[in-house]
Parts: sequence; C-alpha cells; structure tokens
Amino acid sequence: MLYRSKIKGLGFYVPDNIVTNDDLSKLMDTNDAWIQERTGIKERRHALKGTETTTSMGVKASLKAIEAAQINKEEIDFIVFATLSPDYYFPGCGVLVQKELGLPNVGALDIRNQCSGFIYALSVADQYIKTGMYKNVLVIGSETQSPALDMTTRGRNMAVLFGDGAGAAVVSRSDDAQKGILSTHLHSQGEHAAELAMITPGVGTKWVPEILAENNPDDVSYYPYMNGQFVFKNAVVRFSEVIEEGLKANGLTRADINMLVPHQANLRISQFIQHQFKLTDEQVFNNIMKYGNTTAASVPIALTEAVQQGKIKEGDLVVLAAFGSGFTWASAIIRW
Ligand code: ACO
Repeated sequence: MLYRSKIKGLGFYVPDNIVTNDDLSKLMDTNDAWIQERTGIKERRHALKGTETTTSMGVKASLKAIEAAQINKEEIDFIVFATLSPDYYFPGCGVLVQKELGLPNVGALDIRNQCSGFIYALSVADQYIKTGMYKNVLVIGSETQSPALDMTTRGRNMAVLFGDGAGAAVVSRSDDAQKGILSTHLHSQGEHAAELAMITPGVGTKWVPEILAENNPDDVSYYPYMNGQFVFKNAVVRFSEVIEEGLKANGLTRADINMLVPHQANLRISQFIQHQFKLTDEQVFNNIMKYGNTTAASVPIALTEAVQQGKIKEGDLVVLAAFGSGFTWASAIIRW
C-alpha cells in the first residue's frame, strides 16, 4: 500500500543580527537603491560569530516545527538536512541535529543541492513515507553563508544577496488520500556547475596546509562565484518548466494554483514567474526583502511565514519551486 505524506508542522529561525543595505554600503561600494532595484532585498540576517551555526539554527527551527506538528520529538523516525554551508566538511549536520535534539539513533541524511536542497529533501522524505518505511521525517534547510562572503567591493554581487537562517518541516504519514504532497520533480544540469559555485581548488584532492601555502589574499577562488546574468536567465526558464511539469503530472493547470512559494533568489525572478503564470500578488509569497537569499532555508522559512500569516488555507493548492547552483531545480505540488 502506498501512503500519502503531508507537512504536519513548520518552523523557522533567523539570527537577531539584522544587516541592512546601508550597513553593507559601509563595507563595499554599493547602495540601498541598487540592491532594492535589482533584487528587492532591504535587509538580511547574519549569524553571530561563535554562537550560531548551521546546526544550532537548524535545531531551533526543528523544535518549532515539532511543536507545531504536535508530536513528541521521540516520534521522529528520520532526519534529512539540506545545506551548502555545513558546520564541518564531515560529518554532516544531520547527525549533529540527532545529537542536539536527543533523538534515539534514527538515521540522518545530508542533502547537497543548494537552493533546491529543501525540495530535494522534501522529496526524499515523501518517498520514505509513501512506501511506509517512516511515519515522521524531520526535514531541515539551514545556512550560515555570511562567513564565506567577500565583504569588499570585489564580492559585492554575491555579498548583498545572501543571508543566514533555518527552516524545518515535520513531514508525516497522512490518512487523507486527497491531501498532502501530490508529487515532486527534480532536475540537474552539471554542465553549468561552475556558473554558481565555490570551487575551492584542491579540496578533496589536496591537503589543506598545501592549499593555504599556495593561497594568497588576491585568490578569489576561495570565495563563491556567480555568473549573475547567466544564472538569472536559466532560473526564469527552469522555474517555469518545473512548475508546469508538476501541474501537468497532476492534471492541473495554472488556474488551480492558490499559492506559489518560490525559492527566494531575487524578487525580480519571482515577479517574472508571477507574470508568466498570471498570478496575483496574493498568490505568490515573497519575503526576500527581510532575509535575502537563504539558499536551502529559503523555501521552508517562506512557507512557515505564509502559513503563520494565514495565507495558506486547508485544501489550497500550494506549489513550491526552486532553482540554484548545480544547476539544480525542483518543484513540489501540495494539496494543503
Ligand atoms: N552594488 C552596486 N553595483 C553592483 C553590485 C552591488 N552590490 N553588484 C554588481 N554591481 C555592478 C556591477 O559591477 C556592474 O557594473 P559595470 O556595469 O560597471 O560592470 C553593474 O552593477 C551591473 O552588474 P550585473 O551583474 O550585470 O547586474 P545584474 O543586473 O545582472 O544584477 C544580480 C546582478 C542581482 C546578481 C542578478 O544577476 C541576479 O539576481 N542573478 C541571479 C541570482 C540567482 O538567482 N541566484 C540563484 C540562486 S543562488 C544559489 O543557488 C546558491
């Protein structure tokens, strides 16, 4: 028998430390008008050095999601953790969450799919629940990106975009066959891996002391790189494709969408998709203005806020979609 899975509880956490566009303009040659016009972003959160980590924020978001799901944490059967900014090169953050939450020795899986990470993670949880293997899966997206950004004019195209934070969902077996996650759709195109990446040379094949000995302060390859315009052009195409694919797979059309929660990459991308799908302002949820692009955390943070603000009602058709580094892109079609 195949079961249906549903999102039973959601939660998010962002650091208290608010970094405005004016704050950034003191560090680099940028300004509030440029950032707002090109991206929609007004401010973002940066983790407090030494106290907040990808795991600690993931734990805080998870506790809220577990509380919202009204289950005991001991009922969690499995953890899926999505991030591009893990605390350590290894082990992944999933096992650290298992320890911090004091869960029994459940499995913990880490997902490395950047901005699409949460939807990939949700898809994994959905498959385990559908087959009957697990009843409650904790799905987390969390990022501490600020320490890796080049906070000088050289890195301004990336530094203004990204923020830190975490979101989590408890995905549970549902008795209602009509509701829950209807389908998920996942894609990748590795030929564009270098267009949005942190390809720190040698990691994996060289020892770190060797890398550092060869490094110098002008070596930008230690910072993330993005070909912004190329990413933008691919994003708008792939967002549209993967939303259409999801709708078609379920015999639905654009007119059936009640709420689109896109990955918060750039407000201009969301507005382009909104226009293409003929959706109203009320049918697309955006909060990039407050948090910037939080990569794997952006979809669960946005989804949590949309639910908390009463913008998603029972029975609504909710579409999640993401595009990012890899390139990877994904959608989830959910009957709430
Ligand atoms: N402040 C002021 N000027 C800037 C800044 C800044 N922060 N950043 C770049 N500029 C300058 C550039 O140097 C350039 O100057 P020049 O004309 O003298 O050379 C000018 O502004 C225009 O730069 P572009 O890169 O052409 O600006 P664009 O309009 O493309 O906007 C942006 C840049 C916002 C990054 C855009 O390309 C974008 O949003 N791309 C997609 C981002 C995205 O979706 N990422 C995917 C998800 S992220 C993930 O997966 C991890």
